[in-house]
Formats: sequence, structure tokens, C-alpha cells
Amino acid sequence: MVCHIKTIVKKAISNGYAIGAFNVHNLEAILGVVRAAQRAKSPAIIQVSEGAIKYIGLNNFVNITTDAVKNIAPRIPIAFNLDHGKNFEVVSDCLEAGFSSVHMDGSFLPLNENIKVTNEAMKEAKKYGAWVQGEVGPIMGGHGKIGGKLKSVPIADLNEVVEFVKKTNVDTLAAAVGTAHGVFCNETILMQLLRDIKQKTKKPFVLHGGSGVDIFKIKKSIKEGVNIINIGTDIKVAFSETLKKTCKENKHETDPRNLLRPTIEAVEKVVLQSMKIFGSVNQVKF
Ligand code: G3H
Ligand code: ZN
Repeated sequence: MVCHIKTIVKKAISNGYAIGAFNVHNLEAILGVVRAAQRAKSPAIIQVSEGAIKYIGLNNFVNITTDAVKNIAPRIPIAFNLDHGKNFEVVSDCLEAGFSSVHMDGSFLPLNENIKVTNEAMKEAKKYGAWVQGEVGPIMGGHGKIGGKLKSVPIADLNEVVEFVKKTNVDTLAAAVGTAHGVFCNETILMQLLRDIKQKTKKPFVLHGGSGVDIFKIKKSIKEGVNIINIGTDIKVAFSETLKKTCKENKHETDPRNLLRPTIEAVEKVVLQSMKIFGSVNQVKF
């Protein structure tokens, strides 16, 4: 069932696992994530970026995903989140559309301005009883980028993170702790920084850039207090590589369903793998 993010996050905190927040870009990805959640008996967050909203349409996303959850995973708690909302309009549209969580990403702004836009989002979200994710970073790289080494991976300043939380009281917190969007060989997780942030803010922590990060580091970070892990690139890659392979092997196929069906299975597989790593499998008891 589509539910409020707070229900999912609070349960994950008390039971010591993390929730996957999976970026979807089309119907096949939505079906793959929902099927994985049902199969794994795992709660999940399904999220869309501004780009995905432009491509799918906000109401299409809400209606299609709500319907998919009702039909495929009626007893699995699944929440919607806006990912990297860069302006107030998109935040407000998603709140109006019924999202229980929005990410107001002002991390590219000077700290004072980031605090200002995040507080505007907090005020708006309060009207709907929704949660706001704030970010101090910014987290670099690019969704879908794979391979190579980033010139540098920016790291959030601890004092700025603490000041940001003090002045916004965001519901969930993202900060640059060594990961990047995409898959790069020099991604890491700075455990001491994560520990300090958790100890000083006591906020549910969202790890961005989950694709391509060492499994053992991910597992350790969950013990250190990561509560939500964003996965985007892994889903894009699973979809695209499978589609390319299927098209190559079936040059004369004209039924789109036969070309696209394997992509749903590929997304389901990659989401299932993440859920296993995050410890969220079998956490929904009927
Ligand atoms: O906001 C989305 C995530 O941080 C995705 O990062 O593409 O490295 O999985 P990723
Ligand atoms: Zn991100």
C-alpha cells in the first residue's frame, strides 16, 4: 500500500536496516521496483527526479504507481519521494500530488540560501503533513554515469551540516560523505564524518549515490546510522543494457512487450539485490 515515508523509516530505525529509495524513469522501472518489493516482502521508497517527472508526467507517475502498488504489492508499504527538487514549484507540485516526502535540494547554494529555500519547503510541507529531506553537499557525479574516476569527490563540512539542521529541522538529511551519483572507482563512505553527523544531528540519514559503492561499506554505513539509500544508476543500467541486448538478439521482433519484458525483470533483479544488502528483505510481516 502507498503509505507515509515516516511509517517506513521509523520501523527501519527500530529494526536496524535501511530502506532503498529507487529512482524510476518509466513504466518498466516502476513495475520492476514494485515487483521486487512484493517478492522480497520489503518496504521501499519510489522516487522521481525533476527529469523523470518531465518525462512521465507527475499525475501519470502518481496514478500508475499507486495502481501498480495496489495490484502487485497491496500489503507492502511503499512511499513516494521527490528526488533532488531544485526549485520550490516542483516541491509544491509534488506535495499537492500527494507525495509524503520531498527532497528540497539547495545544496548548490550558499548555506544561508540553502537554509532559506529548505525552510520554505518545510513550511509548505507542513500543510500536507509531509516530510522534507534537506541536503548539504552537494553530491557530485551524474545519474547514469558509469566508469572512470571523478576528479574530486566534494565532502560536506560538519559545522555547516550541524548549522543547517539546527536552522531547518529537516525530517531527513542528506550530506556528501564520499559517495557520488553514478559509478566511479574513487567513491567511498567516510565513516567518521557519518558518525559525527549522526551524533550531532540525530536525523534519519539519506545516503545518495548508492550505485557502485562497495557492499561492505554500505553494510557498515547502515550500522553507523544510514537509514535510506538512493539507487538510480544501477536501475538505469539494468534497463538500458537489457533493452540493447534484447533488441540485438531479436532484430525482427515487432512487439514492444517482447522487447521490454526482460527490462522489467532486470530492474526487479537489481532492486532485489539492493534490498538484500540493505537488510530490508522479509521485514514486512503479514
Ligand atoms: O538521487 C539519486 C541517487 O543519489 C542515485 O545515485 O545513481 O549513484 O545510484 P546513483
Ligand atoms: Zn542523489
